[in-house]
Amino acid sequence: MVDREAFYRNVVHSLRNGVIAIWRDGSIAVVNDAAYRILGVAASASHLGRPFHEVLGRDHDLTDVLSLAFTDTALPNRAELRLRSSGKAVGYTLCRIADRDGTVSGAALLFKDLTRVEQLEERERLRDRLAALGEMAAAIAHEVKNPLAGIQVMAGVLKRQLPESPDTHDLLTDIINEAKTANQIVVHVLEFVRPMSLQVEAVSIATVIDTAMATVRSLPSARRTTIAVDRDASLPRLEADPLQLRQLFTNLLTNAVEAISDGGHIWVTSGYAAADESTEPGEQPDYAGYVTVEVTDDGPGIPAEVTEQIFSPFFTTKPRGSGLGLAIVRKIVNAHDGRIDVGPRTGGGTRFRVRLPVPHSTNASGRSPTAPRTAGRTHV
Ligand SMILES: Nc1ncnc2c1ncn2[C@@H]1O[C@H](COP(=O)(O)OP(=O)(O)OP(=O)(O)O)[C@@H](O)[C@H]1O
Ligand SMILES: [Mg+2]
Repeated sequence: MVDREAFYRNVVHSLRNGVIAIWRDGSIAVVNDAAYRILGVAASASHLGRPFHEVLGRDHDLTDVLSLAFTDTALPNRAELRLRSSGKAVGYTLCRIADRDGTVSGAALLFKDLTRVEQLEERERLRDRLAALGEMAAAIAHEVKNPLAGIQVMAGVLKRQLPESPDTHDLLTDIINEAKTANQIVVHVLEFVRPMSLQVEAVSIATVIDTAMATVRSLPSARRTTIAVDRDASLPRLEADPLQLRQLFTNLLTNAVEAISDGGHIWVTSGYAAADESTEPGEQPDYAGYVTVEVTDDGPGIPAEVTEQIFSPFFTTKPRGSGLGLAIVRKIVNAHDGRIDVGPRTGGGTRFRVRLPVPHSTNASGRSPTAPRTAGRTHV
């Protein structure tokens, strides 16, 4: 004999959408596991039979929605809201539960966490915006490159033709240097707007950090900087473009060095975290986990009001900066399906955290438990 009631119960509890059902008097009839997970509320059998506004809280966004169940004629269907408590984007549908005669005995709210979908859409929009911006910038950069080269050559010729005039010489040297700076900016712009094609291979993040360190060490401004690198050689390998990753960390380290030009400290640390468990049951996370690298400095820090802008192309607070360093960083991180965030360091300074995904296949094979963990202080 098939237990139909148990089957219906299992259907509701196995759904990957959140379900909250209430009786006509507003007391809770069902809350399934997905609903608890999305709301971040601990499951409890004691919730059943209690008024929904008591369980969810009177000012909970979903309380407002459920309150409409028996009063509104047009119930929301495929609507969206953002949960104030967690910031999660939620898509929902509200329906009344009626028997065959049309007598309403309750209402049900079905909802789904759309945060990941929203993030993907946002990235898509950003890609489109950058593509349009890129086309224009590439065209301008291309046109400006030739006259700039012309200025450099002609100033050089003039300099040779006026050997007797030191003042004019200095002026011409300045012109040549300025033209070189402008040319450097154009090169950066072209580099930034060029579509990124990744040359992917198995990459050790420790090696990437070493090569980036080698570049940064040669910066004149790095002389009074102590860089402590704690690199874990046993971290799983990434499927990534090593040259792009080197560029990414070189840019972050260069910024850190420039931020503390009067002397200070930089810390580079790395680690591994398995993919978070917020994925729905039965659904495999996209990646096995993430290698995380943090670049922290004890410089002046980034004022809160400009934190939003630092990744925008051409945002710079430096007299000779192009403002493309972090825009390129973000482009490389996105191309690898990674994440980057920035925050203040406790005690002053800045911390950039880059998370790069580790594909499933390399998790088991790429992690070598015997590889030594090397921690070293490097003075540059
Ligand atoms: N570690 C840091 N500490 C303080 N400010 C920072 C740090 N990293 C970035 N910034 C701020 O973000 C801005 C943008 O950085 P970004 O690397 O994009 O450009 P830039 O360094 O100014 O120029 P470029 O990289 O082309 O030389 C910087 O001008 C600086 O104001
Ligand atoms: Mg920079």
